[in-house]
This record gives sequence, structure tokens and C-alpha cells, in this order.
Amino acid sequence: MEKKRSWAEPYKIKMVEPVFMTTEKHRIEALEEAGYNTFLLKSEDVYIDLLTDSGTSAMSDRQWAGLMMGDEAYAGSRNFYHLEETIRKYYSYKYVVPTHQGRGAEHIISKILIKEGDYIPGNMYFTTTKLHQELAGGKFVDIVIDEAHDPECLHKFKGDTDLKKLEALIDKVGAGKIPYVSIATTVNMAGGQPISLGNLKALRKLTNKHGIKIIHDMTRVAENAFMIQQNEDEYKDKCIAEIVYEICSLTDGATMSSKKDAMVNIGGFLAVNDPEIFDKARNMVVIYEGLHTYGGMAGRDMEALAIGIKESVQDDHIRARVGQVFYLGEKLLAMGIPIVKPIGTHGIFLNAKKFLPHIRQDEFPAQTLAAEIYIDSGVRSMERGIVSAGRNKETGEHNYPSLELVRLTIPRRVYTQAHMDVIAESVQRVYERRDSIRGLKMVYEPEYLRFFQARFKKL
Ligand code: F0G
Repeated sequence: MEKKRSWAEPYKIKMVEPVFMTTEKHRIEALEEAGYNTFLLKSEDVYIDLLTDSGTSAMSDRQWAGLMMGDEAYAGSRNFYHLEETIRKYYSYKYVVPTHQGRGAEHIISKILIKEGDYIPGNMYFTTTKLHQELAGGKFVDIVIDEAHDPECLHKFKGDTDLKKLEALIDKVGAGKIPYVSIATTVNMAGGQPISLGNLKALRKLTNKHGIKIIHDMTRVAENAFMIQQNEDEYKDKCIAEIVYEICSLTDGATMSSKKDAMVNIGGFLAVNDPEIFDKARNMVVIYEGLHTYGGMAGRDMEALAIGIKESVQDDHIRARVGQVFYLGEKLLAMGIPIVKPIGTHGIFLNAKKFLPHIRQDEFPAQTLAAEIYIDSGVRSMERGIVSAGRNKETGEHNYPSLELVRLTIPRRVYTQAHMDVIAESVQRVYERRDSIRGLKMVYEPEYLRFFQARFKKL
């Protein structure tokens, strides 16, 4: 047995990207210009960028070397075959259709499997996933366990599905109206919360009984596997690669945004086991993305992705990755800051309802908090609350999610422990002056995924 050591990184830094510090006056102007929406800030005006862990991770020297091995043939690039072989080996899926990123795969699988009037149960919604299900004529039904909606609840697997909720839906609408269950590892909108293998196995049994498929949003599957290794007794001696493989094997297909776990700046895929679905997907991808052996990715990007997948399932890597997130989370907890518990795997989620209890939800507490943190230190975070939840399609009213959160998302292999300290200090400063903070009003609202481009003014 190796001696226990801290979560320290299993790599050393070979190249750096200088960033520039800004003044508070500059940040106030920049934020006003951006309509109080951190998505509309210029990257140059940001000191520590925690907007997302998507496409923002640092590639390894091996991945960069892979870029030089790009085979940019229009058809049959050797990098595609390397990617396909890697996905089969680590993720178990038989057939692969590359896409430009995760939502490209969501689009295709939704169009193939969903008919008008179908229901798609899932372990909490994700913004783009749900929208593609709706655009294909489906209705998303949340079947995550109730604990997931409670930011204080310490359940270890808050991403688990509630099988009773699924059974109730099957009884109500019939299995014929449920083409698949949409399962995410980990659940982003719940605060980066994992599912357990025990729960997934039980779900597999129930869906098999009714002939319902499971489509796996495997965007952060390695991080989920780490939490299983830590907290599900049966798996404590299994390595991450084995756990990842087992998760994937329990599902019928997957959509992947490889901009997260797999540490590339762009890319994704749809992977399935059913040859008929594959045939349809391979045909459809040429309409929306590109030929079925590149689907929106350059050959070099597929090579970097194949290498990134292998790196993503290394035990030392994932321990350091999640270890850094936990370091920040534990620091904030020690400061008494209200965050979603347990700490998630890809970021810290501040509980804006508790942080700013005097701001009504329709005055956008999380959007406000993200703005205030940026003004304080140039740390950019993201709203995950009422703005992200959008409007009810039938009534046109805001959806009022129980979770009103600000996500401090940690890119992989990018920032240091000292950066984590700066972030924590900034959140603490904003917390100390929370009573003086006022909410926002929305002055521009786009039709789809409004959080990306909406604009606000101070009340
Ligand atoms: N599923 C999950 C769980 C995600 O987190 C994302 C993206 C997608 C699907 C869509 O993938 O962006 O490659 O098209 N999440 C990013 C984020 C945007 O910041 O959490 P994509």
C-alpha cells in the first residue's frame, strides 16, 4: 500500500499563460457593459475564470503532441479509428459518432429516439439536454431523488433516481411513451452530485422489465466514478477505469461533451450499442455536424480526445482533480459560507438563497451574487438558478427551481492552491457585505437558453 499523501497534482507545469489583474473601477464598467451577465464579459477582463470547466482545462504535453498527429483526411481519418478504439476500450460502447460537442450528440439522439408526446424521465434536467428533448417533441420529467433539491441534505449520492417516481410515470403514461431514461453522471444542476452504481443497477433492472432504454450523459463520468470508489463500499478496491467501464456497460448509449472529463477544448460524441440506432445517427450526423468519421471535429482534435480519455480515468489524476475542488469547498465551509453539500466534483455551488435571503427569487439572487464576486476580485462564476431554469412552455411564467446557485467551476489542471485561496477570500468579503447587496431586473431575454445572453440592470 502506498503512503497516504495530500491530493497534490500528479504533473508539473511546463507552460503558463499570463493573465492580467484589473482594478475594481474597470470591473464595474466591464460588468455594466456585459449587462450583469458573466457570460457576456470578455475573457481579458477576468482574473480567475470559474465560468465553466467546459473546454477550459489544460491539455497535457501528450495531448498537444497528439495535435501534431492529426490526419485531416475528409473521410476515414486514422484519428477517428483511434478514438473509436479508445471509446470501446474505456467506455464499452460499440459504435461511435463524433460531434462538435455534447449538444450535437443530444440533438441527434433526441431526434432519433423521441416522438411527439413522449416523456423523458431524467435525474434532474440539464439545460441543453432538456431543450433538445423538448425540440424533438418530448417532455422532460424529473425523477431524481428529493434529496437532490435540498442543498443542505448530506446524502452521498444525490444524483440517484427515485425508482418510485419512474414507476409512477410508467403507470400513468405507459412504457410505450418513454423511449429512454436520461441519466447524467454526475448531476451538474444538483451541484455536481454523483449517482451510485447500486442505484444504476436497480434502474437497469426496472427499465429492462419495461423495455425502456437508458441514455447516459457521461460528461463527467470519471468524477462520478471517483465518488463511487470513495463512498460505495463494494467499489473501494476497484480502480476508476473499472468503475467507469461498469457504469457505461449498464446503459444503452451515451452523449458526451468531452470538453469536461476528457480535457479537450472542443469535441464530443454519441456512442450506442444498437446497430440500427447507429445507422440512423451516422446518417443524421452528415446533415448537422459533418461526415461520420469526423462529425465536426478536426482529426487532431479526435487524437487529443483519445489521449485525454485515457488520462481522465487515471486514479492519481482524478484524485487530484476532485481533491482541489474539495480543498476550496472545505475552506468555504470553514468560513461559514452557505454552499451545496456534500461538495460536488467539478465545482463549488454557493447557495444564493441563503447567501442573499433578502433578494426575491425573481430579482435573481444567484445572478446578482455572481456579479458581486466578479466586482470584488475578477473571479468569474456562473448563475445556476432561476435564469438558467427558463420559462414554463405552457404558462410563460419563470420556472422557480428550488436550487438558486452560483457555480464556481474549477477547470482541470489550470489553477493552483493559491488561486483557490484567493477565490475563498473574495467570496468571504462579499459575504461580509451581503446585507448591502441589491437584486437585478432582466432587461433583455433571448428565447432559448436565456442565461447565455440575457441582460440585467441593478434595481
Ligand atoms: N451535459 C452536461 C451535464 C453538461 O454539463 C453539458 C455542458 C452538456 C451536457 C452539453 O455539452 O457544452 O459540450 O454542448 N455543460 C457546460 C457547463 C456548458 O458549463 O456546465 P456541450
